[in-house]
Amino acid sequence: MTLDTRTLLDIDRNTVFHASTHLKQYAQGELGGRIITGAQGIRIRDSEGTELLDAFAGLYCVNIGYGRTEMAEAIYEQAKKLAYYHTYVGHTNEALIALSDRIIKMAPAGMSKVYYGMSGSDANETQLKLVWYYNNVLGRPEKKKIISRDRGYHGSSIASGSMTGLPLFHAHFDLPLDRIKHTLAPVYYRRPDDKMSEAEFSRYCAAKLEEMILAEGPDTVAAMIGEPVLGTGGIVPPPQGYWAEIRKVLDKYDILLIADEVVCGFGRLGSDFGSIHYDMKPDLMTIAKGLTSAYQPLSGVIVGDKVWKVLEQGTDEWGAIGHGYTYSGHPMGAAAALCNLDIIARENLTANARDTGAYLQQRMQETFADHPLVGETRGVGLLHALEFSSNKAKRTHFDPNLKVGPQIAAACLEQGLIARAMPHGDILGFAPSLVVTRNDIDDIVERTAKAVNRVTDKLISSGDFKSR
Ligand SMILES: Cc1ncc(COP(=O)(O)O)c(C=O)c1O
Repeated sequence: MTLDTRTLLDIDRNTVFHASTHLKQYAQGELGGRIITGAQGIRIRDSEGTELLDAFAGLYCVNIGYGRTEMAEAIYEQAKKLAYYHTYVGHTNEALIALSDRIIKMAPAGMSKVYYGMSGSDANETQLKLVWYYNNVLGRPEKKKIISRDRGYHGSSIASGSMTGLPLFHAHFDLPLDRIKHTLAPVYYRRPDDKMSEAEFSRYCAAKLEEMILAEGPDTVAAMIGEPVLGTGGIVPPPQGYWAEIRKVLDKYDILLIADEVVCGFGRLGSDFGSIHYDMKPDLMTIAKGLTSAYQPLSGVIVGDKVWKVLEQGTDEWGAIGHGYTYSGHPMGAAAALCNLDIIARENLTANARDTGAYLQQRMQETFADHPLVGETRGVGLLHALEFSSNKAKRTHFDPNLKVGPQIAAACLEQGLIARAMPHGDILGFAPSLVVTRNDIDDIVERTAKAVNRVTDKLISSGDFKSR
C-alpha cells in the first residue's frame, strides 16, 4: 500500500530531524514539507506531481544533473565487486587508486596526496587537524590560529562551523572555537568607500588581514581558509587581484592557505578548480559536492608537497597518524567520482559552465542591472546572485523582518523555479547543474523576473519600498 503525501509528511514530522529547519514550526505543521520522488536533468518532481526547475542543483552539488543511469550502474557494479573495505594501514582499492591519480593530475601544480571523507564539513575538520599537526612537527606549538572570513562557509561541525563566518552557525552553539578568527569578507558591494576601485579594495582586504595577523601575533597564526568565490555567504566573486594580495601577506608570515573548493571545484566556474581560475596557489584544498555530483557522499583534502613532507616527518617521529574514518576512501564513493569525472570530461561540462555561464551572467545583467529592487547582480561561471536593496543608490538593506530574499525565493517557487534565498542578507542565489543550456537560462531568467516583479509590486503597495 502506498501512503498519500499527507500521511507520509505526518510520519516525517514525527520522526525526522531536518537540517536548517525551524524545528517546532515543522513538527507542528506550520511549515510546509515536500517529498521529492524523482528527478531528471535539471528538474525535480514531488509526490504531488509538481515539477520544479532546480536552478541550484540541490545544494550546488548535482553538477552533472539528475537521473544519470550511468552513475547508478557504476555504483552498482562497484557494490557487486567490492562494496567496502577500509583504507587503514595501507589498504586500498582500485577505484580509489584511479581516482586519486586523476585528482592529483587535475589539481594545480604541487599537490601530492588526497585524504577522503564523506562531507565538506568533515574534510575541513581534517584540514584543521593537519595544520595543527604540521606546526607541532615543526616545533611551533603556538602557531595554531586559523583565519577565516566573515561570510565564509566551511561547514557546520565544530571546527568547520567555527571557520564558517555566519552568525547563525555560531550563536547558541558556543562557537567559534577560540583559535578561529574572521577577517573582512571581500565583498566589493560593501566597500567602505564608494570611490575605491576593485584593486584598491583588494589591497584594503589584504591590509585588514595583515592587521589581524599582527594583532594576534604572526607566530600564532597557522593558516587561512577561503572559498575561491564566497558561496553560501552571498555568492561573491573576489574583487580584482584579491587572491594575489592575500597570498603575499600569507607568504610574508609563513601562513598556509587552504582553498575550500567544495563549491568551485570540478568545473562550476568554467575551470577545473577555483584555485586555478584565480591562481591562488593553495597549500591544501578541500573538495566535495562536484566530486561525485552528490550521487555518493564523498569529500577530500588535497595535501600539497610542502605540508605532505612535514606530515611524513611527523609519522617518522611519532608513528602512524592518529586520524581516520571508517569510510575514508569508500570504494562506492570513488566509483561514483570516477564516473562523474568521465561524464564531465566527455560532455565538456566545464567548458559549458564557462560559456553558458557567461550567457547566464549576461542575461541576468541585462534583465536586472537597472531593476529598482536589485542592488547588484554578480557572478562567475554557473554561479550567480541577485542582491536586493531598499535603496539602490545608497546600497541600503531592507529590514530583515521583511524577509525580502525568502519572499522572492517563494515567488520563484510559484513560478516552478528553485533559486536559493541565501542565509545572509536579501540575496537570491543561482547555481544550476553544469548541463544547463541557453534555453534553460532564458527560462530561469524569465521566471525569476516574474517573481522579482511580483514581490516588488507587493513591497510598493505595502509601503515597504519606494521605487525611484
Ligand atoms: C565551501 C563549502 N565548504 C564546506 C561545505 C560543507 O559541506 P557539507 O555540507 O558537505 O558538510 C559547504 C557546504 O555547502 C561549502 O559550500
